[in-house]
Amino acid sequence: MFIDLHCHILPGIDDGARNLDQSLAMARIAVADGIKTSLATPHHLNGAYHNPAESVRANLLRLAEALQRESIPLQVLPGAELHLVPELPEALREGTAMTIADRRRAVLVELPVHHIPHGAEQVLEAILAQGLTPVIAHPERNSELRKKPERLAQWVASGCLGQVTAQSCTGHFGRSAQQTARLMIQAGSIHVVASDAHRDHRRVPVISSALSPITKWTSTELATLLMQRFPADLADGRQPDTALLEDALPRRTRRRWSSLWLTP
Ligand SMILES: [Fe+2]
Repeated sequence: MFIDLHCHILPGIDDGARNLDQSLAMARIAVADGIKTSLATPHHLNGAYHNPAESVRANLLRLAEALQRESIPLQVLPGAELHLVPELPEALREGTAMTIADRRRAVLVELPVHHIPHGAEQVLEAILAQGLTPVIAHPERNSELRKKPERLAQWVASGCLGQVTAQSCTGHFGRSAQQTARLMIQAGSIHVVASDAHRDHRRVPVISSALSPITKWTSTELATLLMQRFPADLADGRQPDTALLEDALPRRTRRRWSSLWLTP
């Protein structure tokens, strides 16, 4: 069974599900894929969508009622995909930005598509200083991190975690995103696989498709950590034991990437 930490399943509040019917269709796809829990993670603070914590809670309640009415066995938990802006640490301090599963232990953080914003490190440090773990959403799809994956490795070394999108692993977002996903996973910079689903077609809530590529690139043990154990830890408000990840990485790949990136 999987836990999907990144899913735009709430109806009509961002670029995800357009209406309740589509939310329910996404929920049925998730259940069929073996997903038992999905975090509803609407965009917030990205300049286009405004979904503060209170509104996420209210919308989630309505979706949970509809799931129960339709007898769809999917648990939905609150979350948000928070844009990495200078205002984010303050919003978290005030409680207006939703944390992962509303547990105030970790937050899903999104970068712009093409660049790393100036001052990104300072914002991440301010979040870490509050005792919150930033989980970087789909770094493999950020143009600058594709060229400089060592930046992600440095963030991870300072306490952040990485979330790869399942469809990046399968090649759905192109060869470059797929290669970067492989490289970041092999380097130990990724801790979670999630769907980042937006619809009931094309960008769907499916995670299982990443199992085969990740197993091929690393090991069954590592795929299990990224697809089951660490997402469950975060949803329950526990800090993932990242030492397990180092043990599960094939020594050959770990040494190769860390020597390229982390040697001064
Ligand atoms: Fe997303």
